[in-house]
Amino acid sequence: MERPTRPRVFVTRQLPGDALARLAAQVSLRVWEEQLPPPREVLLAETREVEGLITLLTDRVDEPLLEGAPRLRAVSNVAVGYDNIDVAACTARRIPVGNTPGVLTETTADFAFALLMGLARRVAEADAYVRTGQWRTWEPGLLLGTDVHGATLGLVGLGAIGAAMARRARGFGMRVLYVNRRARPDLEAELGLTRVDKATLLAESDFVSLHVPLNVETRHWLGRADFAAMKPGALLVNTARGAVVDPAALAEALASGHLGGAALDVTEPEPLPLDSPLLKLPNVLLAPHIASASHATRGRMASMAVDNLLAALEGRKPPHCVNPELFT
Ligand code: DGY
Repeated sequence: MERPTRPRVFVTRQLPGDALARLAAQVSLRVWEEQLPPPREVLLAETREVEGLITLLTDRVDEPLLEGAPRLRAVSNVAVGYDNIDVAACTARRIPVGNTPGVLTETTADFAFALLMGLARRVAEADAYVRTGQWRTWEPGLLLGTDVHGATLGLVGLGAIGAAMARRARGFGMRVLYVNRRARPDLEAELGLTRVDKATLLAESDFVSLHVPLNVETRHWLGRADFAAMKPGALLVNTARGAVVDPAALAEALASGHLGGAALDVTEPEPLPLDSPLLKLPNVLLAPHIASASHATRGRMASMAVDNLLAALEGRKPPHCVNPELFT
């Protein structure tokens, strides 16, 4: 049988916008059409003969997958985060890995700030209160929340999304502290931010918002001792990765009342099991990992992922490549 001349590509889900139509014009394409991710054995089988792979953060690209995919020349993740991919293993096989930074920065920060506001002012609780017929009259003590203006926000990570969050916070008159591997004097000058150590950030912040990638250094960055070191009644916002927080320690800190509440777009695991204690607490605001989910941004992410993949398949450096050393 004749070999197809076009590279074979497997995409692990339908993507918004017209990016896949553009891809289909250039490659021999298979797309997993289900709502749920391809089961592991399907992913392994589908990648066995392909040259290109477009993944989501729910798809694990690891040594066994790469071992079973000898023709693979390009991996492109439809996300800025790539903790689902063993990049070192890809690099060892000279496989470029693409991601989608930049395009989702503002959209993600919009949502992180929405979560912060929603948690502080108890928006979801208020909505449920009205819908379930509990609202009988105006009451001076009804659904009291926390002021956002004038409060202290502690940013964990000051990359692009952290900085976009800082801009929003400044607009609300917040004092902004940050921890980050490197100092950002440019942003300190522009936005009046203060770099502090972890202990100071935890002790002084009314709100703590997480904006770090998940890696060996950040896994369970907030554990039992860290929650104990937080200001009593502080509120946590997580739009980064669930595993940056130790879930058992989080549940305990919430149950004890030491932590005032948490707004979580990401959790460990995802989705949360229906018997998770987090689902029973009124001071937890939950979302299904949708911080980057605007029509425009998700369309752009898909388009960037296709551009990254096509470049790598042509032997060029993907416009957004997480292992650029392959091209030096
Ligand atoms: C990412 O891009 O890493 C987000 O978690 C999904 O947009």
